[in-house]
Amino acid sequence: LRTERTSHIIHSFVFVLAYSVCLSFFFFFFFFFQVIMSQPTLVVLYGSQTGTAQDTAQRIARQAKRKCIQVQVLPLDNYNVANLIFESLVVFVCATTGQGDPPDNMKNFWMFLFKKSLPVGSLSRLDYAVLGLGDSSYPKFNFVAKKLHKRLLQLGANVLLPVGLADDQHDLGSDAVIDPWLTSFWEKVFTLSWLVSRGSLPPTYNFHFLDDLKEEPDDRLMVSKEQTIASQSHPFPARLVSNRRATERSHFQDVRHIEFDISGSGIKFGAGDVVMIRPCNAPEDIQELCQLLRLDPEVRFTLRATDTAAVPARLPQPCTVQHLIESYLDIAAVPRRSFFELLSTFATNELEREKLLEFSSAAGQNELHSYCNRPRRTALEVLADFPNTTAQIKVDYLLDLFPEIQPRSFSIASSLQLQILVAVVQYKTKMYKIRRGLCSTWLASLDPTQGEVHVPLWVKKGSLKFPKERDTPVIMVGPGTGVAPFRAALQERISEGKTANVLFFGCRLESKDFYFRSEWEELTKAGHLILFTAFSRDQEEKVYVQHRVRENARLLWDLIANKNACFYIAGNAKQMPANVSDALKQAFQQEGGLSAEEAERMFEAMDRTGRLQSETWS
Ligand SMILES: NC(=O)c1ccc[n+]([C@@H]2O[C@H](COP(=O)([O-])OP(=O)(O)OC[C@H]3O[C@@H](n4cnc5c(N)ncnc54)[C@H](OP(=O)(O)O)[C@@H]3O)[C@@H](O)[C@H]2O)c1
Ligand SMILES: Cc1cc2nc3c(=O)[nH]c(=O)nc-3n(C[C@H](O)[C@H](O)[C@H](O)COP(=O)(O)O)c2cc1C
Ligand SMILES: *[C@@H]1O[C@H](CO)[C@@H](O)[C@H](O)[C@H]1NC(C)=O
Ligand SMILES: *[C@@H]1O[C@H](CO)[C@@H](O)[C@H](O)[C@H]1NC(C)=O
Repeated sequence: LRTERTSHIIHSFVFVLAYSVCLSFFFFFFFFFQVIMSQPTLVVLYGSQTGTAQDTAQRIARQAKRKCIQVQVLPLDNYNVANLIFESLVVFVCATTGQGDPPDNMKNFWMFLFKKSLPVGSLSRLDYAVLGLGDSSYPKFNFVAKKLHKRLLQLGANVLLPVGLADDQHDLGSDAVIDPWLTSFWEKVFTLSWLVSRGSLPPTYNFHFLDDLKEEPDDRLMVSKEQTIASQSHPFPARLVSNRRATERSHFQDVRHIEFDISGSGIKFGAGDVVMIRPCNAPEDIQELCQLLRLDPEVRFTLRATDTAAVPARLPQPCTVQHLIESYLDIAAVPRRSFFELLSTFATNELEREKLLEFSSAAGQNELHSYCNRPRRTALEVLADFPNTTAQIKVDYLLDLFPEIQPRSFSIASSLQLQILVAVVQYKTKMYKIRRGLCSTWLASLDPTQGEVHVPLWVKKGSLKFPKERDTPVIMVGPGTGVAPFRAALQERISEGKTANVLFFGCRLESKDFYFRSEWEELTKAGHLILFTAFSRDQEEKVYVQHRVRENARLLWDLIANKNACFYIAGNAKQMPANVSDALKQAFQQEGGLSAEEAERMFEAMDRTGRLQSETWS
C-alpha cells in the first residue's frame, strides 16, 4: 500500500513538473513574441454612453494612424482585460453617467478591475493616460475617470500625464479640455522609448534592390509621348526650345525667357492660363544625399507597398536611386516637424536624439523655427547636421521621410508657342550658402544647346479671363514678371483685332530689366497699345506702377466709366496689388467725383462682375 502511495505521489510530482515546464515554455514564448516580434500598438479603450467618448477615442486613433503608430480602438467590454498586462500604451476615454456610474459598455471591465485578487504590481509594464468626459453640474464630476486612474496607479501602471477632465459645461464644450490634452498626450508619446528606440514605425514601401546593373534606356521623361492630354499624373515631356536671359548680364536679377515645344501633346491654352512644371533636384544635392546615406545612385530597385498605399505612378518600375532622388524626393525644401519625428526614430547618438526629439515636440517649435524656417535650411542640410542619425536611416523610409516634389506655376507669356518668363528665385539668409528656388534655378540651368532637354509639364486654367467683345478695352497692370500673362493676352487680342489695350509696366531700371521693350514699342507704333512705364530705381525716389495709375486717372476713368473697360493686376510684389487697387479707387474719386465709400462700392462691384481681376503670387 505504501509503495503504491509513493508511486502515486511520484507520478503526480512528475506530472506537475512536466506541466509546469510546459507552461513556462508556453509563457516564455508568449512573452518572447510579445516583446520581440510585435510592433508596439497604441490601444484606445473607451466607455461611452451617448457616443462622445467613442467619437473621441476614434479621433485619437485617426491621429495615431497619421503619425504612423499602430492602433487598436475598442469599447472596454470588447477588450480582453487579461491582455492588459502585456500592453505598453493604453489610452482610456471614459464618460461618467448617472450618479458617478460607468457607461454600460465598460461595466464588466469595471467589475474585473476592482477585484481584490489582482496583484499590486501586475500592470508595471503599462504606460497609460486617462481622458474623462463629464459634466461639472453633477456632483460626481468625472468620477469614473478619476477612480480608474487611482486604480491603475495602484496596480503599478505608469501614468503619462494628468487625467483630462473634459466638461460639457465649458463655454467651448468638452473640446476645450480635449484639444490641449491631446496635444500634450502626443508630445509625451513621442518621448516614450518604445517609439524611439525600437524604430518600429513600418515604412509605407519596401525597396527590393535588383542585383543586375544592366544599362537600360533612360526613359524617365519619355513616359507619356503618346497620350493625348497632359495632366498632373501624366505630364508631357516638352522639349526645351530656348532659354534666354531677359535681364542685362550686369543686372543682379536673373530672369529667363523660356520656350517649350509642345507639338504632339494635345495641350491647348489661352491667355491667362498657367503652366505647371515639376522640377528636379540639382546633381550636387543628389550626390550629397547618396553619400550621406551611403547609397549607390546607379542601383535599381522596385517598390512594394506594405499597406494599401499604391506605388507612385510616376516612378518607373524598376527605378534607379538616382531617378528617385532627382525627380521625386523633395530634399531641397525646408523640412516639416514630421520629418524630425521620423528622423528621431533612427537616432542612436544620445545628443542627436535629444535635439531631434526637441524639434519634434510642441515645446520645441520656436527652436525648430529658428533652426529651420527662418534661415530656410533644407532637409538635406539638416541631414548633414545629424550625421550619426542619417547613417542609420533605412532606405525603406525614404518616401516617408521626404515629401514629393511639388509642381510650380508659371503664367504663360505668349499665345502661339508655350513661353514663360521666370524670375530665378535667390536670396540670402544667415546660412552661408545662398538660398535658391528649386524650380526656377533648375529651369535656368537647362541648356538646350547641349543636347535635347525635356521638361515635364501640363497646363491649368488660370484665373484671368479677357473680354470676348471686340471693343471692350483692357487695362493691365503688370510690374516685373507680372507682365507675363499680359503679353499672352496682347498677342491673342491683337490677332483677333482687339486693339483697345493699356499696359502699365514697372521694373527697376530701364536699361536692365525692361522685358519685351521692343515688342511694346512696335505695338505702340502700330496703335495697338498704350504703354505706361515706372522705373523704380532710375531716380532717387521710387516710382511704381500705382503712381502711373494715379497720374492717368482721367484716361482710366473714361475707359472704365464710359467704355466698360476691364482692369487686371498681376505680379509678385507683396503690397503691389493693394497699392494699385488704392490708386484705382483714388482715380474714381478724383475723376468721377465719387466719395470714398462710393469708390469702394464701385471697385467691389467691378470685382464681383469680373471686370476687375488679379493673379498674384509670392
Ligand atoms: N532683391 C530685391 O530687392 C527683391 C525684392 C523683391 C523681389 N525680388 C525678387 O525679384 C524677382 C522678380 O520678381 P518680379 O519680376 O515679379 O518683380 P520685381 O522685379 O521684384 O519687381 C518689379 C517692380 O515692382 C516694384 N515694386 C516693389 N514693390 C512694389 C509695390 N509695393 N508696388 C508696386 N511696385 C513695386 C519693384 O521696385 P523696387 O524693387 O525698386 O522696390 C520693381 O520695380 C522675384 O524672384 C523676387 O524674389 C527681389
Ligand atoms: C498662378 C501663378 C503664376 C505664376 N507666374 C509666374 C511667372 O510668370 N513668372 C515667375 O517668375 N513666377 C511666377 N509664379 C511664381 C512661381 O511659381 C514661384 O516663384 C515659384 O516658387 C518658383 O519656383 P522655385 O521657388 O522652386 O524656384 C507664379 C505663381 C503662381 C501661383
Ligand atoms: C558619430 O559619427 C562620427 C562620424 O561619423 C563618429 O566619429 C562618431 O564615433 C559617432 N558617434 C556616435 C556616438 O555614434
Ligand atoms: C503700399 O501699401 C502699404 C500698405 O497699405 C503702404 O504702407 C505703402 O506705403 C504703400 N506703398 C506705396 C508705394 O504706395
